[in-house]
Amino acid sequence: MQSGAPTEGTGAGAGSGAAVRKKPMRVLSGIQPTGRFHWGNYFGAIKQYIELQYENEGFYFIADLHALTTIRDAQQLRQNVRDAALDLLALGLDPTRATLFVQSHVPEVSELYWILMTGAPLGLLERCVAFKDKESRGIKADAGLFTYPVLMAADILAYDSECVPVGEDQNQHIEVCRDLARSFNAHYGDTFVMPSARILKDTAKVPGTDGQKMSKSYGNTLAMFEDAKELQKKIMRISTDSRPMEDAKDPDTDHLYQLFSLFGTEEQSEEIRAMYLRGGFGYGEIKKRLAAAAEGFLAPLRERRAALAQDPAIVDAALADGANRARRVAREVLSRVQKACGLSR
Ligand code: ADP
Ligand code: TRP
Repeated sequence: MQSGAPTEGTGAGAGSGAAVRKKPMRVLSGIQPTGRFHWGNYFGAIKQYIELQYENEGFYFIADLHALTTIRDAQQLRQNVRDAALDLLALGLDPTRATLFVQSHVPEVSELYWILMTGAPLGLLERCVAFKDKESRGIKADAGLFTYPVLMAADILAYDSECVPVGEDQNQHIEVCRDLARSFNAHYGDTFVMPSARILKDTAKVPGTDGQKMSKSYGNTLAMFEDAKELQKKIMRISTDSRPMEDAKDPDTDHLYQLFSLFGTEEQSEEIRAMYLRGGFGYGEIKKRLAAAAEGFLAPLRERRAALAQDPAIVDAALADGANRARRVAREVLSRVQKACGLSR
């Protein structure tokens, strides 16, 4: 079947749109409905989903089974899945181009998960940072959290995915997926398509308000659909160093500059860059400019979301149609896998 080393920012179809491709690539990614999407989620992952949907065959899902490892309140989970679907549609995911669905609506993935589990070395899972990180922060680990990368591998392999757009933190999980696919193929014969990660260099690790990686778990996020006033307040509270105003500063190591360049035009970013290199400016000024640039980008999205929220049938129809399309593919792949390992009826 197909193979390819993981690509960082160089995956086929990487934004240029100029290349002539004979066959559209199968692109897949999932995102957990564990809280409202933030700038890191959008610029690291969701923006890629949207860019890739035009020239490729996109499969994008809301990972509710993965979210069960952290959300144990049924009403909360249902609400989060709804919010995630609305957010993705408002951000530009087009259900007529890409397949948008909820992970648990495709039960074939859970069977594939078990099959992959039987070939997953414990040592491989023990090395996964997501698990080690949670454990080191005192979060009691259960088998679901430990085997999380195997479910993720099932998600990817169930759709013959070739390209998986994600932020940098997911790269290790995609390596695990490749390892599991490789060893299954070696043992049972070519069965799985080998996927590659697609990580955008510039936005692989968007910083949060404290300069660490922006993450729901670190409480340093700026949400895509934050209320305008609240967002402005959070921007004004972004941490900065206490060097004197007149000092020149290195924009490349400054998280405020990195955040600005997500929204500013190239020209605006160049201008701010020159200010940093020259010195003699206050961070307050940069924050005001960031707030204005972000608001220009986010206000229309907020309006689009509010309009979509008026019509829940649109979301329901997109998810139902998505689940049908996704199941059709997953059923075929699962049947191939069952046959390969001797489970066929
Ligand atoms: P969080 O760390 O906030 O819980 P998730 O793990 O749900 O975020 O990530 C969803 C997607 O967004 C993944 O593809 C992940 O790689 C990407 N992502 C999350 N945080 C960032 C960030 N700070 N920079 C770039 N991409 C990110
Ligand atoms: N683990 C991913 C995250 O936390 C979400 C996810 C689940 C995913 N299954 C996937 C991402 C398959 C890409 C492909 O962000």
